[in-house]
Amino acid sequence: MQISRLLLFLQIFIILMKVNNLNFFIMPRKKGLSVAKPSARKITPPQLLKGMKDILPEEQKYWDFIKEKAKKIAETYGFEYIDTPILESTSLFIRSVGKNTDIVEKEMFSFVDQGGDNICARPEMTASIVRAYNEHGMINRPQPVKLYSIGPVFRHNKPQAGRYRQFNQWSFEVIGDNSPVIDAELISLQYHLFKDIGLDSSLHINSVGCPVCRPQYSLQLQEYYRTRKKNLCDNCKRRFSKNPIRLLDCKEKACGEMVADAPQMVDCLCEDCRAHFVKVLEHLDAAEIPYTLDPKIVRGLDYYVRTAFEFFPISNAQEKIESQSAISGGGRYDGLVQLLGGREEIGACGFAGGLERIILAMKENNVQIPETATADVFLAQLGESARKKSLKLLEDLRTAGLKVRANLSKSSLSNQLGTAAKMGVKFTLIYGQKEVIDNTILMRDMSSSSQEIVDIKKIVSEINKRMARLNKDNV
Ligand code: HAM
Repeated sequence: MQISRLLLFLQIFIILMKVNNLNFFIMPRKKGLSVAKPSARKITPPQLLKGMKDILPEEQKYWDFIKEKAKKIAETYGFEYIDTPILESTSLFIRSVGKNTDIVEKEMFSFVDQGGDNICARPEMTASIVRAYNEHGMINRPQPVKLYSIGPVFRHNKPQAGRYRQFNQWSFEVIGDNSPVIDAELISLQYHLFKDIGLDSSLHINSVGCPVCRPQYSLQLQEYYRTRKKNLCDNCKRRFSKNPIRLLDCKEKACGEMVADAPQMVDCLCEDCRAHFVKVLEHLDAAEIPYTLDPKIVRGLDYYVRTAFEFFPISNAQEKIESQSAISGGGRYDGLVQLLGGREEIGACGFAGGLERIILAMKENNVQIPETATADVFLAQLGESARKKSLKLLEDLRTAGLKVRANLSKSSLSNQLGTAAKMGVKFTLIYGQKEVIDNTILMRDMSSSSQEIVDIKKIVSEINKRMARLNKDNV
């Protein structure tokens, strides 16, 4: 009887082991049978895509600063903010930027989406803004319509210093006016915006003519380059027949040397284009904005007519041109509204600044960003009952309009006081178990290190009173 029980137990034990896949422990190991070990293969952690950039918290002050300055000057010049989507139909840019441009030929992040549509991440904003102008019937608004936008654009080019595949632009566009004063107004806005952020800039300007005079000029250029064609770079050999005006801004040394003696667009302008250009320059003179007439400014997008301009940081303007580091560029694009489906040909002009390059130039030129006070008050808590009440108190202080910070996961008072001192706050509130019971809080003046007990209900008015006194003393 006892033996049969023992056998039964043994059977149950073996079944359980099998069910739990634990037979491994009781089976003898076969020679050569390896036990699964964690893989020794190193897994490459995900990395930033080539040409992309993280903008870390410590960099954000530059971004906040320049965007704020852009917003301020935009208001003065009467611009309204617009956001357009990052994804657009690819055909929008083929039509506007031009199918023989570097952007369209080589640089667009375009793909077929799940619905079979050809879409792309916008390589610039002007075409999108003009599309929005047409699509929302903005022609029926008082003209011109002045719009600006700030955001990321995408170009799959060869990354190098100051050249990214995702970068940010501010784009200012005036649509519905062909008067030369608009060109000057836009240039003035960009010039003074650079001044506002502490950058001296150098303006290079040219006229690229219009469909009346440019074909004639292109023929002259081809004539000039015909005998020199064999010495051009491969890119320029292609440009020779497709887009000869772009031969002028090639960055290759040999091609650049040929530009010096090439015919210049300004000598071939039709009467209307010449008169327009002269007027733009007169406005710039009157506004005391210095400029350099530069026949090499022909721009890399097809939609331009007449005025074309670029800005370079003044520290080393000549070298910057050679390293392709324009910090802003733009011009007139009178035909674009109609090209994108608008009812009539309408005057338009604009520019875009490259924000990464602008910030790089600010750093190179040691532009200091004024420090903005992060907080006036730090709330330190001590003990579990105070911590429980601190989240609500923090919100009460914030909604009362105080710039307040806290570090609620920390328990040590000295640690919290150290953080408060580093932040440079004016007052630290110390909230402990005793204060919770008494409905009070300890207020510490960080400059004098004096402390006083305040009724918790009066804390906002007490801080405000002292802040007002401090501000008065500082005047
Ligand atoms: P864009 O010259 O092609 O013009 O670009 C404007 C600015 O964006 C350049 O001056 C440069 O500062 C910056 N930028 C261009 N490519 C890169 C890059 N790969 N990495 C970093 N920054 C770059 C336009 O985009 C036109 N939509 C401007 C315009 C507006 N014209 C009329 N309205």
